[in-house]
Amino acid sequence: MTDIQHLIQELESGEIPRHVAIIMDGNGRWAQRRGLPRTEGHRQGVEAVRKVVRTAGELGIDYLTLYTFSSENWSRPKDEIAEIFKLLRFFIRRDLAELHKNNVCLKVIGKRNNVPTDILNLLDEATNLTQHNTGQKLIIAFNYGSRDEIEDAVQRIAKAIEAGQIKSEDVCADMISNSIYTAGIPDPDILIRTSGEVRLSNFLLWQMAYTEMVFVDTLWPDFTPSEFVEALKTYQQRNRRYGGIVMETGS
Ligand code: FPP
Repeated sequence: MTDIQHLIQELESGEIPRHVAIIMDGNGRWAQRRGLPRTEGHRQGVEAVRKVVRTAGELGIDYLTLYTFSSENWSRPKDEIAEIFKLLRFFIRRDLAELHKNNVCLKVIGKRNNVPTDILNLLDEATNLTQHNTGQKLIIAFNYGSRDEIEDAVQRIAKAIEAGQIKSEDVCADMISNSIYTAGIPDPDILIRTSGEVRLSNFLLWQMAYTEMVFVDTLWPDFTPSEFVEALKTYQQRNRRYGGIVMETGS
């Protein structure tokens, strides 16, 4: 049995999280440390994405959300943005058939404004093709920002109040959850962020109220399936209380 098979076997004796969210950080540093252009880090990052998506599928993780481009990433140099877009096109074109064959259902969250039309079409095509698939849900956060998402939801709810469809006292947490981009998707059980940075960077702020956070030092292009499984083992060792208490057992 290989190391990874052994790790997976250990993991499968515990609770497999239903929803894993990942901030894939450190591509630029990975490249810079090798004297390569930052874009090379993103290119290697896609290979790490493919491996992690496959491992998540093998583990039976129902939802995997990946932060591929944030609403703040527009402040990057134009050529770097163009490369990330190119890689997204490349990923969808190369991997869509396999994802579909593996019964993966692709979903995209984020704003559509400013995104090149061909990317929007490609993402629509991918989501339409896979929409009835019943296996893993792969959620691509693209041009995503949590504050934008909450702003959109609040505006939608405010309009419904203005139109007299609901009353202000009807507004509740469930209504907000059902008005954001991730409506119908359970909140993440675990967030993994690579590269040693310890912050949320405007990612799933509403959804991560009770999410367990695992921060690892590895730069994203070096993040292996074994490290992914290790992060899930760390999650399994956590004691989720959701604000309640857990009685100590034993002596
Ligand atoms: C963070 O590293 C990474 C990004 C902003 C982009 C993530 C994109 C990919 C992994 C490739 C595209 C993915 C798909 C699925 C097509 P950073 O550049 O902020 O790294 P740094 O903090 O070291 O500068």
